[in-house]
Amino acid sequence: MNMKSSAEPDLDPVNMLKWYVECGVDETISETPINWFEQTNNSPIKQQVKTASSPQEQPASRPAKTTPLASQKELIDSAEKIAAECSSLEQLNEAILAYDGCSLKKTASNTVFSDGNAQSDIMLIGEAPGAEEDKIGKPFISQSGQLLDRMFGAINMSRETDFYITNLLPWRPPGNRKPTDAECELCLPFLKRHIELFNPKMIILIGGTSASTVLNVETGITKLRGKWNDYTLADKQVPMMAIFHPAYLIKQPHYKKQTWHDLLTIKEKLEDLSK
Ligand code: URA
Ligand code: URA
Repeated sequence: MNMKSSAEPDLDPVNMLKWYVECGVDETISETPINWFEQTNNSPIKQQVKTASSPQEQPASRPAKTTPLASQKELIDSAEKIAAECSSLEQLNEAILAYDGCSLKKTASNTVFSDGNAQSDIMLIGEAPGAEEDKIGKPFISQSGQLLDRMFGAINMSRETDFYITNLLPWRPPGNRKPTDAECELCLPFLKRHIELFNPKMIILIGGTSASTVLNVETGITKLRGKWNDYTLADKQVPMMAIFHPAYLIKQPHYKKQTWHDLLTIKEKLEDLSK
């Protein structure tokens, strides 16, 4: 008979390890300390030791050569440059796969680019992949993705035929934490190019993070949802609306009523656009 009560902690080492990885742990602490400075070629400690033990090899006054870390502005400039050079969605996907400027990529298993119909007119933009999306490499396939499909199914739209879907961030933040402003800003140049290359007739922002980042405001989703804004592309203004995130609707089902209203507004707009 299994005497273990559900209140007891799960001490199975494999489960504990999985839990640590889920929380974003990526280093173990060993019995002996590690001197990380000694492990880099540019370490000032190493330079000192080297100079002391072999004075003939190096003039003592030679300054240590270090590569300064790129500033956030430099990282954003470089992301913009890389994104601008892409002239198709495939190229953008390849460029993001090759990009190493965002530290989220180091803990993610996959780069999640998009799903849905790339020939459709409507672009949905979520926040970031979750655990399942990270594993499979596709956006919105977990429980909240299934709710999203049902929500759009209710206005007769499916991702197979009627819309295309991506996220602000192509990499899962460890443990599903909320992405930082710096991470959002860094991924925004890729998203902006994604929008230009997809060239939508309508944009739907899913949840507070994608809404406030793309609209460049600090206003919360409760105030942003359900209202039309324009996204400016080179040759046109694209109608854009934010809706509640389905993950939020799972926790707060009473907001589904407002979302149903938003979905009907979207449907109405689409009918207007196709006239
Ligand atoms: N939540 C998101 O915002 N995007 C996904 O792809 C999955 C969950
Ligand atoms: N918080 C978010 O980020 N999005 C929502 O839709 C609701 C709460």
